[in-house]
Amino acid sequence: MKKIKVLISEEKINNRLDELANQIMDEYKGKDIVFLCILKGSIFFTVELAKRIKNNIQFEFVEVSSYENNESTGKVKLNKDITQSIEGKEVIIIEDIVDTGRTLAFLKELLLEKKPASLKICSLLDKTSRRIANVKADYVGFAIEDKFVVGYGLDDEQNLRNLNYIGYIEE
Ligand code: IMP
Ligand code: MG
Repeated sequence: MKKIKVLISEEKINNRLDELANQIMDEYKGKDIVFLCILKGSIFFTVELAKRIKNNIQFEFVEVSSYENNESTGKVKLNKDITQSIEGKEVIIIEDIVDTGRTLAFLKELLLEKKPASLKICSLLDKTSRRIANVKADYVGFAIEDKFVVGYGLDDEQNLRNLNYIGYIEE
């Protein structure tokens, strides 16, 4: 059995989500927002953050894959595209973690072609030391060191997403 250690507790996540929500409400006063959730890892973060925001939020979902056997392959594939137009809308990409940055670089380019009024990135976690592609999240929950993390949406080969905290696997 793999042993999981707590990296960020549920309480810490909740407190940080309150702060992020306030920051977003401040910056998007009176505006409708589209939360563009990247499946599957961002579902928990998307829902919990959205519940704290008073603006009207519409939801879109994309699914991309780049990881195989917990290794970034470098190639990003779009498995599922959005279903409604985002033209002229204020879009925030909601991501679980920015690692190499390749996923977001790929998505940003793809989404900008759809002509949103604005496009920002909000990521729960940021592993800055691993960055390869030139992307930066506008909102970050927590910067973390280079550890493989699970929980709160993040998976280990599709498992452990439903932990209510962010943990790492002790080898
Ligand atoms: P990037 O394209 O290298 O930035 O990878 C981003 C994607 O890789 C994230 O959306 C996650 O799905 C996955 N990923 C990166 N690091 C981790 C991790 O530590 N745990 C689980 N998934 C991760
Ligand atoms: Mg992901």
